[in-house]
Amino acid sequence: MLAGADELRSQVARLGRELSGAYPDGVLLVAVLKGALWFLADLVRSVSVPCAVDFLAISSYAEGTGRVRIVKDLDCDISGRDVVLVEDIVDTGLTLAYLLGEMERRGPRSLAVCTLLDKAARRIVPARLDFVGLRIADEFALGYGLDFAERYRNLDHIVAGDLSRLQQDPDAHVKELFPG
Ligand code: IMP
Repeated sequence: MLAGADELRSQVARLGRELSGAYPDGVLLVAVLKGALWFLADLVRSVSVPCAVDFLAISSYAEGTGRVRIVKDLDCDISGRDVVLVEDIVDTGLTLAYLLGEMERRGPRSLAVCTLLDKAARRIVPARLDFVGLRIADEFALGYGLDFAERYRNLDHIVAGDLSRLQQDPDAHVKELFPG
């Protein structure tokens, strides 16, 4: 287990307090679909200042290349606003670097990053992470929004998956993790 439900609850509560302290006048949280949705839903309920949310969805051009494109854009204009990009996990940092470039072009007053998980061992491009839930080793995380082929997102905790087994069979961990 990488993080149990209680651990996640307490880290999310801490991040909510940190965000509330950093943005006393309020903040716009921009979550990256789909993985950050579970984290965002809990995070907003731990933020005690005015807080708006918006969503972006991205898709990879080719798996593992880090080349992504926006397939659902924000509904709102972020220029002049205090924005926090909310990610489920920062791994190589390539997705984040692309998204930060996109957001910066739109002229926010400030732009920060809040990620639930930081997998720094695999970083390819440097990432400035302002708010971090948990630092994890080089493991493939599943649960609490994190998926493999759309499975496992609905676990209330985070486990390490066996990537070579999952690549052969995306359902490899289903029986043990969802006993029914
Ligand atoms: P990046 O390598 O930092 O660009 O991360 C790209 C995306 O890969 C993340 O936003 C996740 O959607 C996905 N990803 C990276 N590591 C994991 C993992 O351990 N479990 C599930 N998804 C992951």
